[in-house]
Amino acid sequence: MTTHTPRVFSGIKPSGGLTLGNYLGAIKRFVDMQGQEFETIYCVVDLHAITVWQDPAVLKDATREVAAGFIASGIDPSQSILFNQSQVPAHAELGWIFNCVARVGWMNRMTQFKDKAGKNAEQVSLGLYAYPSLMAADILLYHATHVPVGEDQKQHVELTRDIASKFNHDFKAGDFFPLCEPIIEGPATRVMNLRDGTKKMSKSGESDMERINMTDDADKIAKKFKKAKTDPEPLPETLDGLKDRPEARNLVDIYASLSEVTPEAVISEYAGAGWGRFKPALADLAVEKLAPISQEMARLMKKPDEIDAILAKGSEKADAIAQPILQKTYDIVGLVRSR
Ligand code: TYM
Repeated sequence: MTTHTPRVFSGIKPSGGLTLGNYLGAIKRFVDMQGQEFETIYCVVDLHAITVWQDPAVLKDATREVAAGFIASGIDPSQSILFNQSQVPAHAELGWIFNCVARVGWMNRMTQFKDKAGKNAEQVSLGLYAYPSLMAADILLYHATHVPVGEDQKQHVELTRDIASKFNHDFKAGDFFPLCEPIIEGPATRVMNLRDGTKKMSKSGESDMERINMTDDADKIAKKFKKAKTDPEPLPETLDGLKDRPEARNLVDIYASLSEVTPEAVISEYAGAGWGRFKPALADLAVEKLAPISQEMARLMKKPDEIDAILAKGSEKADAIAQPILQKTYDIVGLVRSR
């Protein structure tokens, strides 16, 4: 039995700008895991972004913007490895091997593929279909044991475990690839759309009013929360009272996550409060927490060379961990390493 070093890996796609969902569901928690008992590796997954069309110039900006978002939120490149996926070719190489391990039937069950492909499944890229096996490669290339993600990525992390387990079994490789744990914690694992509490807040929704972007300034943040859809009822006395009120529940969860308390604590503070009181308090809190991050992102974005230098260093460190694991994988699979 090998004991795998506790190691965290997670990634964010540079497709469109970062949202409050990415921040609360992912980045903020990445920062919390830094400096603990784990080695932390965070990646801007540009190869995942191109599974749907990306304008090349926009992709470059978006890649740097995600990196800036990580750094501005508190990811410290001297404590964590921060890099962009395409610069470590081993991701694509291991991804191919996993394409030969994963089964078509497994891919067909991926709900995110079904949602994204919709009725257009014949026309989407082959990469979009194979996406989850590249994601498994991202994680397993570092023998990562813990994967902090939002709720929407749970199925992909479970698939990663299935791929690891099938590989280990088929090649009689013991526990060469660890069975990683998804870490889905806190009150904001699924931040919802501000205009429709039944839909996830996403980078690509139709209206800008339905999401908070990490680059929004204080006025925009305040305006979006004040205009967020709610129902006419005041906040209830207990959390149970939010059961069939998705928009209200979402705002309470966002408040809880931003202020690092439980949703129960928010309800006990605001029981009976109307939206005229709660929304401005939420807007103020969000501005207090997010405006410094967006300002720092804007500052960093003016220095793309600095961002690139950080990513380059991170890529080298990532590659140094990845290469021996990839080479060992080749040996296990029976590929002749003739050079
Ligand atoms: P992506 O880029 O869609 O999202 C990045 C992270 O943000 C989380 N997230 C949310 N959390 C809460 N509420 C929301 N509304 C919300 N929207 C997004 C996501 O759950 C995710 O954690 N396939 C991944 C990227 C990826 C990856 C990996 C993640 C590629 N390889 C390896 C972990 C490990 C994705 O598309 O995330």
